[in-house]
Amino acid sequence: MSIHKKEEKKVTTHVLHEMKSRGEKISMLTAYDFSMARVVDQAGIDVILVGDSASNVMAGHETTLPITLDQMIYHASSVVRGVNRALVVVDLPFGSYQGNSKEALASTIRIMKESGAHAIKMEGGEEILESIKRILTAGVPVMGHLGLTPQSIYKFGTYTVRATEDAEAEKLIRDSKMLEEAGCFAIVLEKIPAHLAQRVAENLTIPVIGIGAGSGVDGQVLVVHDMLGITNEFSPRFLRRYANLYDLMKGAVEHYITDVKSKDFPNAKEQY
Ligand code: KIV
Repeated sequence: MSIHKKEEKKVTTHVLHEMKSRGEKISMLTAYDFSMARVVDQAGIDVILVGDSASNVMAGHETTLPITLDQMIYHASSVVRGVNRALVVVDLPFGSYQGNSKEALASTIRIMKESGAHAIKMEGGEEILESIKRILTAGVPVMGHLGLTPQSIYKFGTYTVRATEDAEAEKLIRDSKMLEEAGCFAIVLEKIPAHLAQRVAENLTIPVIGIGAGSGVDGQVLVVHDMLGITNEFSPRFLRRYANLYDLMKGAVEHYITDVKSKDFPNAKEQY
């Protein structure tokens, strides 16, 4: 008898490269817990990102900076238990890799050992290249993240579109090439002009996944709480809402409260 979960064709970094080669778009969503990861995986998503956006949507922080490595490992291990098919990528949180490449590798090893995830994601280009190379040497797949990098929000000052000026756009193009040459298996581009994102995707052989980066890239990622409408105060132009779960859930809770107060719940069939 096998002790492993029922085998399905798993999404690997190799599968993602093949998808790019044949022009098949890659779907990616965040998840932070077992139940949501099960839904998203069973719906057939290709990649699940345990994003440090957990700091915002799970913990209620204003930025992604406060979330810790221990908290990311907790979220990631919960997600991994709910996933059968998707590739699970975990964000290295702020403060767990910027110090030096040794620290970056130690943080990565903790994530891989303690959560069972398949890859990690890091924000930045040339500045973190040494760390990326060291992690790749240890055999861990790395996804890059360029453009709007929320861990640097206090450097940018705002969440507006990045790389609209030539100098920043040129650095982004250089960084994306460096990440590919270093061995990253994919890159996320966040909130940059669509024509620039398309140029980067056409320049690279590795998949480029966009969020607010237009349709000319190899795949799309959204924060699951945003696209399901669980959060309702965040409405950037790039966000398409596929449901309004906030109202649905609030309505259900209001209904429950009414039933409890009116003594409608539980009824005779709902007790022992
Ligand atoms: O943390 C996150 O959810 C992300 C996505 C926005 C790409 O990094």
